[in-house]
Amino acid sequence: MTDTVPVIDWASDFDVLDPRYITDPFSIWDDLRTTCPIAHTDRRISSWLPTRYEDVTAIAHDIAHFSSLRVAVIPGGEDDEPPVDFEGPNLEYGLPPISADPPLHTWTRRLLLPWFSHRRVDGYVPMTRDLCRGLLDGFAEGAHADAAAGYAQQIPVRVIAHILGVSTDMSDTFTMWVRDILEFADDPERRQRGAEGLLMYFVEQLEYRRHNPGPDLLSELLGEEVDGKPIDDGIILGIAALVLIAGVDTTWSAIGSSIWHLATHPEDQQRLRDEPGLMALAVEELLRAYSPVTMARLVTEDVEYGGCPMKEGDKVLMNFPAANRDPEAFEEPDVVRLDRAHNRHVAFGSGIHRCAGSNLARMELQVALEEWLHRIPAFSLEQGKEITWAGGQVRGPRILPVVF
Ligand code: HEM
Repeated sequence: MTDTVPVIDWASDFDVLDPRYITDPFSIWDDLRTTCPIAHTDRRISSWLPTRYEDVTAIAHDIAHFSSLRVAVIPGGEDDEPPVDFEGPNLEYGLPPISADPPLHTWTRRLLLPWFSHRRVDGYVPMTRDLCRGLLDGFAEGAHADAAAGYAQQIPVRVIAHILGVSTDMSDTFTMWVRDILEFADDPERRQRGAEGLLMYFVEQLEYRRHNPGPDLLSELLGEEVDGKPIDDGIILGIAALVLIAGVDTTWSAIGSSIWHLATHPEDQQRLRDEPGLMALAVEELLRAYSPVTMARLVTEDVEYGGCPMKEGDKVLMNFPAANRDPEAFEEPDVVRLDRAHNRHVAFGSGIHRCAGSNLARMELQVALEEWLHRIPAFSLEQGKEITWAGGQVRGPRILPVVF
C-alpha cells in the first residue's frame, strides 16, 4: 500500500486512507458536519465527501447527476484497460448492477433479487448455523481467539460460495482476491492479482456450467433470456464477481465490528444474553453505528450541490456510515442503543442501488452473533494485543484478539 501524507485540513484535503480516518472517522465527521458538511480532496482524483444524512440520501437518489459507472472509493484500475490481456467475454459492463446505471442496472438487479429473497435466505440459515458452530468448535475450548480472522472472516465467503455453487475449498483464495480488490486497491500489484484471479476463475466456471448446469446462480443466469436473447457472458461474469465482492468483506466487517462493540461494552453483551429477543433490533443498531460500506459516484456534468462546484468527472463518496451518525437524523447517534426503535439507517444504501443482499447480510450477522454468544462466555479485548482495522471502501476489524 502506498504511504499517505498525513491530513492537516480535512475540509479541503481529506484522505479516507489516513490511519486516523480508518480508526476513528466519527470525530472527523462530527467536525466536518458543523464546519464543512461536504468536504473535498484532490488526492488521487477530485472527490467530495458529504457527511450529512440529508445530502447523502439526496445524492444517492439523483442518478442523473451522480452515475454509478465508477463506484471505487480508491480509484485504481477502473479506468484502465481490462486487467488481463484476454480473449473472451466482453468486460466493458463492469460489475452490474452496482456499477451500472439504468437500463442495464434495472434488469440485472431484477435477475439477482430472487436469490436473496426472505424465502431463499431462510433456506440458508441451517448451513450458516452449522458453519458458525463448526468454527466455534475450533477455538471455544481455549481462552482466546481472533474474532475477526478466526470467525467473522470465515463465514460470508462460505455462504456465498454455496450460493454460487462453487467449492468452499476456494474460500481462502476468494477472501484474498476480494481483499486485493477492495482493501488493497491502492496497490496496483495486489489489485491486479485479485481482479485477474477472480476473472479467470469465473471464466472457467462459466464454461464448466454451460455443459454441467446445477441449481446455482451461474447456471441459472446462463439459462436466462432477456428480450429473447441469452445474457452476454460478460454480464454474467460481472454479476458473479459482484456477488462475491459485495457479499464477503462487507458482511465480515459488520460481524467483526459488532463483536468488537460487544467486547468493549460488557453491558450490551450481557443485555443480549439476557434478552435474546432483542437480536433483530440490535443487528439494525449495530449496522447503523458501524456501517462498513462507502461507495462512490461519478459526476456526469458540472453541477452545484450544497454550494459545492462539482465538476464532470469528479467523484462523490457516498458516505453512508457518516449519514448514520448524523445527529439531525438520529438521537444521540454515537450511543449504541440496542433497542433503538426509529432507525432509518442507510448502511445498505439508499435509492435504486440499495443493497440487493441485505436479507442475507442481516441473517448472517444475526446467526453469527447468536452462535457466538451461545458458545463463548463473557469476553473482552485481549490486553496488549494489537487490533487492526481496514478502511476505504469497507471498514471493519481485520485482527481482533479477544479473551474469555
Ligand atoms: C453488512 C453487509 C452489507 C452491507 C453493509 C452492504 C452495503 C451495501 C450498500 C451500501 C450498497 C449500495 C451501493 C451503492 O449505493 O452504490 C450495496 C449494494 C449491493 N449489495 Fe450489499 N451490503 C452488504 C452485504 C451484501 C451481501 C451479503 C450481498 C450478497 C451477495 C450484497 C450484494 C449487493 C449487491 C448485488 C448490491 C448492488 C445493488 C444495486 O446496485 O442495485 N451485499 N450493499
